[in-house]
Amino acid sequence: MAAFLEETVTMVHHWTDRLFSFRTTRDPHFRFENGQFAMIGLNVDGKPLLRAYSMASPNHDDGLEFFSIKVPNGPLTSRLQNIRLGDTILIGRKCTGTLLQDNLLPGRNLYLASTGTGFAPFASIIRDFTVYERYEKVVVLHGCRTVAELGYSEEVVNSLLGDEYMAEIVTGKLVYHPTVTREPFRYMGRVTSGLEDGSIPRQSGLPPLDPAQDRVMICGSEAMLKDMVALMESRGFEEGSSSRPGHYVIEKAFVEK
Ligand code: A2P
Repeated sequence: MAAFLEETVTMVHHWTDRLFSFRTTRDPHFRFENGQFAMIGLNVDGKPLLRAYSMASPNHDDGLEFFSIKVPNGPLTSRLQNIRLGDTILIGRKCTGTLLQDNLLPGRNLYLASTGTGFAPFASIIRDFTVYERYEKVVVLHGCRTVAELGYSEEVVNSLLGDEYMAEIVTGKLVYHPTVTREPFRYMGRVTSGLEDGSIPRQSGLPPLDPAQDRVMICGSEAMLKDMVALMESRGFEEGSSSRPGHYVIEKAFVEK
């Protein structure tokens, strides 16, 4: 068996000069849980060049979708940003990750807190109808520098709300709370500040964060994770794992240094 699956690019969309998303074909044997990541990449000079990427598509989708940053000198993303329809993407067969429903205790509301490409695993999770059976509200927080950087999360949410089958499931349950830090927008400031001062739950008509009721999945930059973990711990939330489900789980958004 080949070490990597070879999939074909079927769609590429550039949201900004820093962010793009793309879709590929999917081998029917490639299985994953919503929220997981795999190693993906390109053949460069005859060798596989791979990085960790969360699957942004849900596992019932026939194709695969990914959301990526473009790092000008990044070994992989400087090349990956130039992919075209028909190109080949290598995909490792092993999927892993901590952003799993079973790593959390049952709760009332699920917060999915992300910055930048950290939204990717949540694009998968919010397109999984089973998450709406577990929670009263599924609250997507996406913090970006600019309004244009919210383009992908806005499209994923809008297409869910407009989907014939999913609209009925998500309407009134899926709460989308985008925030922007570097230009004017209806919600401004960092995700961390809005949770810390309570403005995010308040503006979404939700009660203040409470470890007895709320569950939180976190995916963003290392600085964001550090601040979010400090906030969670200060509020009495405990980190969950597969051996011991808890109140919150974290995953680094996979950005090339
Ligand atoms: P800021 O503009 O204040 O840096 P990036 O694209 O650099 O990963 O940033 C995505 C978003 O994450 C930006 O809105 C950025 O805000 C925000 N951000 C950066 N650091 C943190 C942090 N420690 N906690 C929460 N949000 C952060």
